[in-house]
Amino acid sequence: MTRVIAVANQKGGVGKTTTAINLAAGIALSGHATLLVDIDPQGNATSGVGMKQRAAENGSVYDALMADDPAAAAERFVMASAVERLSLVPATRELTGAELELISVPNRERRLKQFIDAVKERFEYVVIDCPPSLGLLTLNGLVAADTVLIPLHCEYFALEGLADLVGTMRRVRAAYNPTLEIEGVLLTMYDERTNLGQQVARDVREFFKDKVFRTVIPRNVRLGEAPSHGVPGVVYDARSRGAEAYFALAHEVITRHYDQTAA
Ligand SMILES: Nc1ncnc2c1ncn2[C@@H]1O[C@H](COP(=O)(O)OP(=O)(O)O)[C@@H](O)[C@H]1O
Ligand SMILES: [Mg+2]
Repeated sequence: MTRVIAVANQKGGVGKTTTAINLAAGIALSGHATLLVDIDPQGNATSGVGMKQRAAENGSVYDALMADDPAAAAERFVMASAVERLSLVPATRELTGAELELISVPNRERRLKQFIDAVKERFEYVVIDCPPSLGLLTLNGLVAADTVLIPLHCEYFALEGLADLVGTMRRVRAAYNPTLEIEGVLLTMYDERTNLGQQVARDVREFFKDKVFRTVIPRNVRLGEAPSHGVPGVVYDARSRGAEAYFALAHEVITRHYDQTAA
C-alpha cells in the first residue's frame, strides 16, 4: 500500500522543503519508488531536485488541480528526476493563483487527492511539500495524505502556531479524511551547542512524546548549499551530517510503515 505523507507547518523557513526533498530522495535511494509532489507556488522542491527549467513541459501540479477531472490523464504531470526511483510533480508560479481559483471549483478540497489517487499505484511513497499557510493548497495536501510530518525549527517560537495546524488537522479528519494521522514531529536545524536548541528539543518531546522522530536534523551547511546545485542534500554530499540524518529519517519512516503494514 502506498503511504502518502504531507510535510506541513504554516510557518515558513522551518525546513519543510528541505525535509520533503531529502526524505523523498532518501527513501528512493533506499530502494522504494517515491513521488515528490510540490504544492508550494514558490516551487522550491521543484528547483531543489533540478527540475525548474523543465517544470512546465508537460504541465504542472497547477494544471492537474485545475483540470476538469484531475484523475484524467494524470500521468502526464509525473516526471522522472535525476535521482533513481524518484519522480516529481512540479510546481510553477502559476500555482499562486490556485489558492483563489480553486474556491469556485467543484470538490475544491479533494482535487489533489483525486490526482494522487490516479497516479500513486506505482509508488510506495508519496511526499507532498506544502506551502507556508493553512489555505486551500495545504488543505488539499492534508485531504490527500495518510499522514502529516511536521518539521519544527529548534528555536524559541517553535511551538507557536502549532495549535492552528492541529486544529486544521482535526477539521480535515471530521469533514474529509477521518484516518489522517501524524507521521511524526521532526526537529530541524538543531544546534547542539546552544542551550536553547536543547531546551526546545526537550519541550517538544515532552509535549508530543513518542510522536517525535528519534532522528534530529542538525543545522548543516551542506543541506543549505545543495538547492543551489539542484540536487538533494542526500545526493550532493551523502557523507555530510545533514545527509546522514535524512537517511536515518527515511529509515525511520520506512520501518514504521513496514511495522504498521505487517501488524
Ligand atoms: N538542517 C539545515 N541546515 C542548514 N540549513 C537548512 C537546514 N534545513 C533547511 N535549511 C535552509 O533553511 C532555509 C529554509 O528551509 P526550507 O526547507 O526552505 O523551509 P520551508 O520549506 O519550511 O520554508 C533554506 O534556505 C534551507 O536551505
Ligand atoms: Mg518550502
